[in-house]
Amino acid sequence: MNTGWKRTVLCATYAALVCLWGVAWASGQAEPEQKSETAETVFKNVQVLKGIPVDQFMGTMGFFAASLGLNCTDCHAAESSGNWQKFALDTPLKQTARKMILMTNAINKANFGGMRMVTCYSCHRGNQRPEITPSLAQQYGAPPPDDPDKVEILAQAAAGPSAEQILDKYIQAIGGAQQLANLTSFAAKGTYIGYDTDQQKVPFELYALAPNQRTAIVHALIGNSTTTYDGRAGWISSTDKPVPLLALTGGDLDGVRADADLSFPARIKQDFTNWRAGFPATTIDDREVQIVEADTVGGSRIKLYFDKQSGLLVRQVRYNYTLVGINPTHIEYSDYRRVAGVMVPFHWVVTWTDGQATIQLADVQPNATINGEKFAKPSPAPPPKPITK
Ligand code: HEC
Ligand code: HEC
Repeated sequence: MNTGWKRTVLCATYAALVCLWGVAWASGQAEPEQKSETAETVFKNVQVLKGIPVDQFMGTMGFFAASLGLNCTDCHAAESSGNWQKFALDTPLKQTARKMILMTNAINKANFGGMRMVTCYSCHRGNQRPEITPSLAQQYGAPPPDDPDKVEILAQAAAGPSAEQILDKYIQAIGGAQQLANLTSFAAKGTYIGYDTDQQKVPFELYALAPNQRTAIVHALIGNSTTTYDGRAGWISSTDKPVPLLALTGGDLDGVRADADLSFPARIKQDFTNWRAGFPATTIDDREVQIVEADTVGGSRIKLYFDKQSGLLVRQVRYNYTLVGINPTHIEYSDYRRVAGVMVPFHWVVTWTDGQATIQLADVQPNATINGEKFAKPSPAPPPKPITK
C-alpha cells in the first residue's frame, strides 16, 4: 500500500503505524458488524492470542511495548511501519515473545492457580532483557518516589475521610448538586495534540449528553478519528486503527463509559460501585491529593485523585485487564473553568501504553441542542487522506 506520505517514527509505539488498516480493508471486513470479531479472524498470523476481540488484542500489544520498553516496530518487521499487513511477518523477537506468552501462562498455571500474578512486566520491568544481577546503586541509592498510579497500592482503611466524604466535597467544589442537575449537555471545541497526529495541533470537538453519552472527534490531517459511547456500546472510527471501525469491549468499553459518566458527575456515586478510600497520602505536582478507588460496571478498577484543598478531580487512572496483564490509562485534568455554574476541566492529558494526547478546550456551549446522530455508531473511517506538505 502506498499512501505517499512520510512519517518520522518518534518514541511513540503507535507513531509507526498511523494511518494504515489495509488488513481489514483487504480482507473485506470494512464493516465489522459483529461486536466481538476475534483477532484471528481479522489478522493473518495469530497463533497464541486467540479468541479475543481486536481492541483487546491491541491492548496486549500495548502491554508488550510498555513491559519491554519497545516500539511496535522493534518486535515487528521494519516494513510494518506504514503497512498493517506486514505486522503478520514473523521476526525473531516476535517468535520469542510468543514463547514468552506460553512460558508466562505456564508459570501462572503451575504456581498461582492460573491467576495472572506473573506478567511480562514482572521480569522485564521496561527492559528488552531482564536484569539478572541486583544493582548495588539501586540498593544503596535513594529510593524512587512511590508511583501513585500503581494498582498494587492498597487502601489502609486508616483514619481520613471516607470515599463518600471525598465525593461530596468534589460535588460541592464543582458547583453543587443543583447546578450539576441543570447542566444536561455540552458541545465543545478545542485542539488535540498526539502521537497519532505526529504532535501537530489539530481541531477537536466534544459532544456530551447526560447521563452518559459522549463523542469526541479528532480532526487529524489523515482523516477524522471519532470515539463514541452511546450509553451502552462504544466504538472508535479511525484511519489509525487496524480496522476502520473498532468496537470497544471489556476494559476499553469501561473506559469510554467512565469518561462519559465523568462528564456529568451528578451521579458519580452510583455510576461506579464498591468505593474505597484510605490510600496512603500522596501529592501530584506538590499538591496533596485524596484518592478513591471504585469498580466500573464492567468490573475494571478506576482510581480518582482529588486535590485536597480545592476538591477538584485532578487525575483519573483506570486499569484495563488484558489477556497478558493490566494496562493503565492515566488522565490529568486541569484548567477548570465555570460553565453554566459547573466547574469543567478545559485541559487534559491522556497517557496510555500506546501513546499520549493533550486536549485543550477553547469553547464549551452548555445545554446545547445536539443531534442524536452524534452519539450513534460512527461509520467506518475512509482510507487515509494523503498529506501534502
Ligand atoms: C514484544 C514484542 C511485540 C511488541 C513490542 C509488539 N508486538 Fe505485535 N505481535 C507480537 C506477537 C508475538 C504477535 C503474534 C501473537 C500471536 O501469534 O498470538 C503480534 C501480532 C501483532 C499483530 C497481528 C498481525 C497479523 O496480521 O497477524 C498486530 C496488528 C500487531 N502485533 C500490532 C502491534 C502494535 C501496533 C504494536 C505496538 C503497540 C505491537 N504489535 C507491539 C509481538 C509484539
Ligand atoms: C519469568 C521471567 C520472564 C517473564 C515473565 C517474561 N520474560 Fe521475556 N525474557 C526473560 C528472560 C530472562 C529473557 C532473556 C533471555 C536471553 O537473554 O536470552 C527474556 C527475553 C525476551 C525476549 C527476547 C529479547 C531479546 O533481545 O532477545 C522477548 C521479546 C521477550 N522476552 C518477551 C516477553 C513477553 C512478551 C513476555 C510476556 C508475555 C515476557 N517476555 C515474559 C524473562 C521473562
